[in-house]
Amino acid sequence: MKQAANKIKISPSILSANFAKLGEEVIALTEAGADYIHIDVMDGHFVPNLTIGPDVVKSIRSYSNLIFDVHLMTYNVDDLIVKFANSGADIITIHAEASTHLDRSLKLIKSLGKKAGVSLVPSSSETMLNYIIDQVDLILVMTVNPGFAAQEFILSQLSKIEKIKKLIGNRSIELEVDGGINDITAKQVISAGADTLVSGNYIFKDGPSGYLKNIAALRNIL
Ligand code: DX5
Ligand code: ZN
Repeated sequence: MKQAANKIKISPSILSANFAKLGEEVIALTEAGADYIHIDVMDGHFVPNLTIGPDVVKSIRSYSNLIFDVHLMTYNVDDLIVKFANSGADIITIHAEASTHLDRSLKLIKSLGKKAGVSLVPSSSETMLNYIIDQVDLILVMTVNPGFAAQEFILSQLSKIEKIKKLIGNRSIELEVDGGINDITAKQVISAGADTLVSGNYIFKDGPSGYLKNIAALRNIL
């Protein structure tokens, strides 16, 4: 069943931003109508790339009142949850594959007063959500193998999104997708049940003057 277009939230990934001007980029995305700021945290172990630490998040916090949607692609989640909570994260999403005691880690996020998200890489089954679903505010389906921007969307994830949408039922849980989202794949994921779209390459492709147009295009794609 299709979502109403006005329910779609857009979370631009600053992984595609100009890191030398990160504060200005966050202001530009805020003015361009983004709903969230998506912050991709990579540790060089869970994924083969290194990105943003808690001090960077702290330094950009004052540039926007938007929700900071922090996506931890890391091991050692419990330590980092506390650090990112203190640095200004609003949503903290961790990978089911990266946390041995996922139940405990999700409870830790909630105990710090933050929204808790759980993410699955493309090879993981939605059944990993069975025993923790009632603890999460957001489920993030990776539609690329995490680690880099501008990768190709993995089509097999559409049926996973549909299954998770059914699993969510009438719970108040956001269904976010991340990786390879553009004007074509946005339609597919929204039709499958997604309500929040992360996007890097597509939103940033024309530089700051294109942010408003590209964010609006994704939000209104149906
Ligand atoms: C991938 C990251 C994504 C990614 C999105 O590891 O989690 O947020 O950078 O970028 P695009 O939209 O370029 O695939
Ligand atoms: Zn991400």
